[in-house]
This record gives sequence, structure tokens and C-alpha cells, in this order.
Amino acid sequence: MFRPEVVAMSPYVPGEQPQTGKAIKLNTNENPYPPTPKVAEAIALASSRLERYPDPLGTAFRIAAAGVLKVDADMILCGNGSDDCLTILTRAFVGHGQKIRFPSPSYILYRTLAELQGARFEEVSLNDQFQLSDEFFRPSDDLRLVYIPNPNSPTGTLISHDQILRLADELDCPVVVDEAYVDFAPESAVSLVSNNPKIIVTRTLSKSYALAGLRFGYLVAHPEVVSMLRKVKDSYNTDMLSISGATAAISDQSWLRENVSKVIKTRERMTSELRTLGFSVIESHANFVWCTHTKHASKLIYEELKRRGILVRYMNYPSWMDGLRISVGTNEQIDALMLVLRDIVA
Ligand SMILES: Cc1ncc(COP(=O)(O)O)c(C=O)c1O
Repeated sequence: MFRPEVVAMSPYVPGEQPQTGKAIKLNTNENPYPPTPKVAEAIALASSRLERYPDPLGTAFRIAAAGVLKVDADMILCGNGSDDCLTILTRAFVGHGQKIRFPSPSYILYRTLAELQGARFEEVSLNDQFQLSDEFFRPSDDLRLVYIPNPNSPTGTLISHDQILRLADELDCPVVVDEAYVDFAPESAVSLVSNNPKIIVTRTLSKSYALAGLRFGYLVAHPEVVSMLRKVKDSYNTDMLSISGATAAISDQSWLRENVSKVIKTRERMTSELRTLGFSVIESHANFVWCTHTKHASKLIYEELKRRGILVRYMNYPSWMDGLRISVGTNEQIDALMLVLRDIVA
């Protein structure tokens, strides 16, 4: 009954989401703190209007976000999480048999989106400095879309804006900069979008705004690009509660600044303590770190942590390496992690 692409594809497997129990959850890069209380207030207010359909374009959010990002509201398209924005982009730009390019290692969902579309994909390895190699810039027949997660997952590393501009210059297709983690990094590519219709930025409220459960993301693109993408999205792809909650969250920038600085401080502490325990840790610009241990196998450390109630993400990239991606938790959660790790690697 199914299309051959669906039969052939391997499903995207997200990190474990136990719905009960007291596990310390450091496996899916959620924010360890609750969101601004203004979100709950806004959702309570909106819940009295649920008999109506929501605004199909999420205009209240777009106006609030436009003010924060210093762009026009017509440059913003809302999504049911940024994964929805990535789906819309893939459907809009990539036809059957055409190609998507993205770095390796990077976000595994890009592969799933390509497979679902019946498209091909090229995973081009990052060099040993986690930068794009010359191969990444090479024009190729049928290349219709490039994804650059920045900061990258699982490495937490950055690609410079010069490289993004060079890509947009040298390739014929749109360059999507997936900025799921950008609030934990020094700069955003949103400033590049106004002058370059080929650059599209996707963002999420799941990480820095602590709203993974709400499902709200958005993209920033040239207004003409946005108006074409509106044709591709589901008509009501964001609901009334999520639009209201997301609008309240993005309007509270002082909460964001305070949260981000707490997370970054813990990230720096985690990095140095993990190194003291014999881990090699890549300098991260996101809310997680990638690490491997010099003596102990990552898979065994993951399993032992899980047995003791701490979930981290074990990832295996056959063309690169396997290792642990550990999300930044609260200071107490990281204290507990370090205590158990000290015991495991002793
Ligand atoms: C690189 C990257 N992009 C996008 C997403 C999706 O975020 P969401 O759909 O929650 O907005 C994630 C989630 O982990 C991610 O790691």
C-alpha cells in the first residue's frame, strides 16, 4: 500500500522521552529550567477561545519576533516546531530524485526528510576543525537545498558567516541555516537574510525558551520566499495555545538573557569537569557538549549512566566516530552526573 520511499526509509528515532519516573534527562537538549511564567498566563487566556480556529499565520507571534529580530513581520513563517519548518522547506524546494546536501556529522532528521521526499542526499564530512571542506562548495547537478545546522549538532561547533555567504554565492540553491541552538552562540545569520533571498534561517523555541513541549518554531526568509512557502504549509500548522505561549515567551527577552547566561555558565563548568575526568570535549556553542572518553567506550558509559537513572544521548556516526552528547542540565543535575561519572571512569 505504501510508496516505495516510505517502505525503504529508516524512521527518525528521537532521544528517549520517558513519561514517568525520576530520570535525570540530559539526552534531547531541552532546557532544564521552566519557561517564563508569562507563557502559562498567555495560554490560560487563549484557552477561553478554543472554539475558534487559530490565526493561520500566527501574526501576533510574527510581530513580536520581528521586533526582537529587527526584521519585517512578512519575513517570518511560523511552524509546529522548527522540524515543521524544515519539512516545509524540503517539500517546497526538493523534488523526487533531486539532491539535498548537509554536513556529516549533523542533525539526522535531514536524511529522513530527504528520504520521505524521494530525494537523494549528500552528507559531506566536516574537516578536522569541524569546518566545511571544499567539497561542500562544489556545484552539483540537481542540488536543490543545503542544510547548515549552526551551531551544529552533535558537535556544538560553528560555521562562520563568511562561509555561509560563500555557499550562497557559489551554489545555485537555497542555503538553510538551522539555528536551533543559536541563542547559546555569539551571532545569528538573521542579519544576512535581508540582503540575500537564498539564505533562510530556521529557529525554535524548544531550546533557549524552554518550550520543547509546546512545539513552536519559525523561519526567517525574504518576504517573497515566505509568501511561496505559505502555499506549502498546512493551513493551521500552529495552534492557538502555542501561538499565544510563543508570543509571550519571545516578548520576555530579559528572561531569555538570564536563562542563556545560566546555561552557558553550566556548559563551561561541565566542559572543564569532564576534561578533568579524562573526557575529550569539543568546545561547544550550544546547550550540550559532545565528548568521548580516552579510555572507556562511550556505549558502556551511556548504558551505565542509564542504569543509574541518568539519560544522555549515545550517538554513532559510522563515517566519523561514536560518542556522548550530553545536554546542559541544572547545576544540581550536573553535580549528580559528575558524581556518577567519576565512579564509572575511576
Ligand atoms: C539541529 C536541530 N534542528 C532542529 C531541531 C528541532 O527542533 P524543534 O522541532 O523542537 O523546534 C533540533 C532538535 O533537537 C535540532 O537539534
